[in-house]
Amino acid sequence: MKTIIEPFRIKSVEPLHHNSREERERLLERAGYNLFLIDAKDILIDLLTDSGTSAMSTGQWAAMMRGDESYAGSESFYRLKRAVEDLTGFRHVIPTHQGRAAERILFHVTCGPGKLVPNNTHFDTTRANVESNGARAVDLPCPEAADTQARGPFKGNMDVAALERLIETEGAARIPLVMITVTNNSGGGQPVSLANIEAVKAVASRHGIPLYLDACRFAENAWFILQREAPYADWTPKQIAQKMFRLADGCTFSAKKDAFANIGGFLCTNDDRLAELEKDLLILTEGFPTYGGLAGRDLEAIAVGLEEVLDADYLRYRIVSTEYLGRHIAGAGVPIVEPPGGHAIYIDAGRMLPHIPGRRFPGQALAVELYRHAGIRSVEIGSLMFGDKAQHELLRLAIPRRVYTQSHIDYVVEAILEVNARKEEIRGLEIVSEPPFLRHFSARFRMLH
Ligand code: F0G
Repeated sequence: MKTIIEPFRIKSVEPLHHNSREERERLLERAGYNLFLIDAKDILIDLLTDSGTSAMSTGQWAAMMRGDESYAGSESFYRLKRAVEDLTGFRHVIPTHQGRAAERILFHVTCGPGKLVPNNTHFDTTRANVESNGARAVDLPCPEAADTQARGPFKGNMDVAALERLIETEGAARIPLVMITVTNNSGGGQPVSLANIEAVKAVASRHGIPLYLDACRFAENAWFILQREAPYADWTPKQIAQKMFRLADGCTFSAKKDAFANIGGFLCTNDDRLAELEKDLLILTEGFPTYGGLAGRDLEAIAVGLEEVLDADYLRYRIVSTEYLGRHIAGAGVPIVEPPGGHAIYIDAGRMLPHIPGRRFPGQALAVELYRHAGIRSVEIGSLMFGDKAQHELLRLAIPRRVYTQSHIDYVVEAILEVNARKEEIRGLEIVSEPPFLRHFSARFRMLH
């Protein structure tokens, strides 16, 4: 059979509510055209993020019932620790309430003024946490990533030659760690090859610099490796993931993505001294090192999710269903970042709406129009999110895990094609107010006419 079906059935449902175009227009005005400021109840299909929005399995819900809520030494922590150790091999597993808490702790203990952190592409919170500790976040995407239309197998890779040049000109002493984000979220959800991780590791270790993974979507990355990198065609996703982690000296992890959890994360390291500093800081703001800001039941959900996500049937369905959305809109002429990513499809809004310049936020203009037209929420990844560091003007349609069925996605395809048919009418936006950091979350806009 060639039809790939959702490898689960639905036991519990949540209603969705339609509203009218007029209501959505009013809601947009009230929210200052910022979709983060619209209430979830007013959204029909929510593709804002794949983070914390997964449907949990019966196995996860069952595990939550055995959550040990002890302040210190909880059994749930040890179950999570064993799961993470088995997967990653890291010596220290430090739970945190989500990925950015791990980032804050890691960069607080390793960064400071004069330091810099290279990454294939920093995610917004990762960049903000590096910068708020006084260091410089440097993106080193591979050259193929510059062309959204090129169809390379591993466009998430880091530019290894650029990394070598950076270390030579800046000096290894100023670089506390090199980070690779798998998959490369801000770069179109594109995977990173094992060959690239190995090459980066070789350069970093030659200079005595540790390598960290920002590993939120490690399982999706492992599936792409299995599909596209010849030596690994016969490996299991778990074996590939284990190899990825064992090339690194530590990781940050948001369990809200590939662990199917609604909250949670962790920070890992092989460095005993660093682990001590990190745990001290953890106690200050997150909690004791055997719960790190999470309930025991959350630790259980993460431990089970880490195993479930490496199931080959799930990963095949996941990657093919994301591609389904991409192929159907790209096939009808909507420019997307090629090839389709793992957790999301990214429309190249700069290319789709050439009449709107970057400073008028084509990605945001498209996000607003898609909500106005069909109640779909998506997110801009471009000049609004990254200012003058933006490499492209993208609109991300992130797919929550195990949540939407194919008919939901068919509705999204139809809506995008209808908007595309009258794209010349879409107008840009102007910022009316914005905060000093991470402005996309709360900026307000005015529509230009
Ligand atoms: N790193 C990457 C690559 C991410 O995509 C995210 C979150 C984080 C770190 C931070 O993790 O949210 O648990 O604090 N990405 C979400 C997204 C928010 O929509 O892509 P967090």
